[in-house]
Amino acid sequence: MKKEDDNMKDNTRLTHGFQGADPCTGAISFPIFQSATFRHNGLYQSTGYDYSRAGNPTREELEKTLTALEQGEKCWAFSSGMAAISTVFRLLKPGDHVLLSEDLYGGTHRLACDIYEPYGIEFEYIKMSDPSALSSRIRENTAMIFVETPSNPMMTVTDLAAIRDVIAGRGILFVVDNTFLTSYFQKPLLFGADLVVYSGTKYLCGHNDVLAGFVVAGPNEDLCTRLSRISMSEGAVLGAFDSWLMIRSLKTLAVRLERQEKNAGEIAKYLQTCPEVIDVYYVGLPSHPGYDTNRKQSSGAGAMISFRLSSRDLAVHIIENVQLIYFAESLGGVESLITYPVVQTHAETPEALKLSVGLDDRLLRLSVGLEDVSDMIEDLAQTFSSYQTKTGGSSDGNFA
Ligand SMILES: Cc1ncc(COP(=O)(O)O)c(C=O)c1O
Repeated sequence: MKKEDDNMKDNTRLTHGFQGADPCTGAISFPIFQSATFRHNGLYQSTGYDYSRAGNPTREELEKTLTALEQGEKCWAFSSGMAAISTVFRLLKPGDHVLLSEDLYGGTHRLACDIYEPYGIEFEYIKMSDPSALSSRIRENTAMIFVETPSNPMMTVTDLAAIRDVIAGRGILFVVDNTFLTSYFQKPLLFGADLVVYSGTKYLCGHNDVLAGFVVAGPNEDLCTRLSRISMSEGAVLGAFDSWLMIRSLKTLAVRLERQEKNAGEIAKYLQTCPEVIDVYYVGLPSHPGYDTNRKQSSGAGAMISFRLSSRDLAVHIIENVQLIYFAESLGGVESLITYPVVQTHAETPEALKLSVGLDDRLLRLSVGLEDVSDMIEDLAQTFSSYQTKTGGSSDGNFA
C-alpha cells in the first residue's frame, strides 16, 4: 500500500505520518529540523524552505499528516489553540457579524470580546443545537459561524449538516472547533465546514506536555492563500521540536482515543448511579439529547464528561480530595484531569451566558485518561464517601 492511497485507514496513517521515515537517512523517526533559516545554493535556488516562519520540514510533516487525516486541503500548525482561532478571526473585517455556539471554551469568548470586538466585529452567541433558530439570526453582514461540537463544557452536540444546509450559498464561513473529538472521530469538512480548528494541546498531543493549535481548510484556494499569508506574516507558528513531539503523539492517537472513550463510557455509567450526581453530560450515553446526531456525524463519543453535583460544597470537596485524578485545567491527556469550569476555563465568561447554558458552581468537567478504569472509579467513590463522613451522612449539604 502506498502512502498516498486514499483507502489507507486513519490509524495506519497516524502511525506512519505523511512521509514517515526520512528519505535521506532512513531514520524511522522523522527528523527535527531545528533551523531558523535554510541555505540557498544560488539566486532563486531555494530547496523549498527559506525561513522557518514560512515553512519548516518538521512542521510540514505534521501539517501534512493532519491534512490527510482530516481529508482536507491544507493545515497550519500554531503555537497554541488560541493562536489558531485568532488566525481564523483575522479573516474578519470591521462591520462583520459572527454567530458562535453559546456554549464554548471561555478563552474563545475572551478572544472575541476583548481582542476582536474593539475592531468593530460583532459576536453573537446562539443555541447551535437548534439549527432552525439559526436562519432568523443570520444578517446581511454575517461572515462566520463558529461551532464547538461537543461543546465545552456542556457537551452540547450541533448538527453540522443542518448548519451547512441553512447557510448554503450565503458566503458565510463555517468554522468548527473539533478539539474534543479530533478528526479521528469526526471530520467536519465532510459535513460542510470550511475550516476546522483545534487546540492541539489536548487529544492531538495527548501527553499534557505541548501547547499547539491547528487550522485545517477544505479545498478553497482563496481561503488557503489568505490563511498562509496570515500565518507567515504573524508567525505564531509551532516550533520544530514541538512539531516533532506532536508527530510522535499522533502515532498513538487512535489507541489513546479508543481506550479513553471506553474508560469514559464506564465512568459515565458509574456517575449515573451516584445519588449525589444530578446530571451526567456525556455524548456516548443514549440518554444524551445529542446522542443520535453525534452518532450520525462521528464515529466516537470521546472521553469528556461533565457532571452536576447536588451542591457546590460537594463539587469543591471532590476537586480537593481526588487522589489519582488531578485537579487541573486542560483535557485530552493520558492523565485524567478534573476541572471546575466556573472558576477555571470559563471564569471570564459572562454570568448570564454561563447560566443560560447551565454552567453553574455545581458542575465539574472530567477528562478521562488512560489509567485503569477501576482505579478512577475508586478514586471518585472515595470522594463521595469521605464527603458523607464529613457531612454526617447528608449527601446534599450545601455550605456555600
Ligand atoms: C475547545 C477548545 N478550543 C480551544 C482551546 C484553546 O486552546 P489552547 O489552550 O491550546 O490555546 C481550548 C482550551 O482549553 C479548548 O478547550
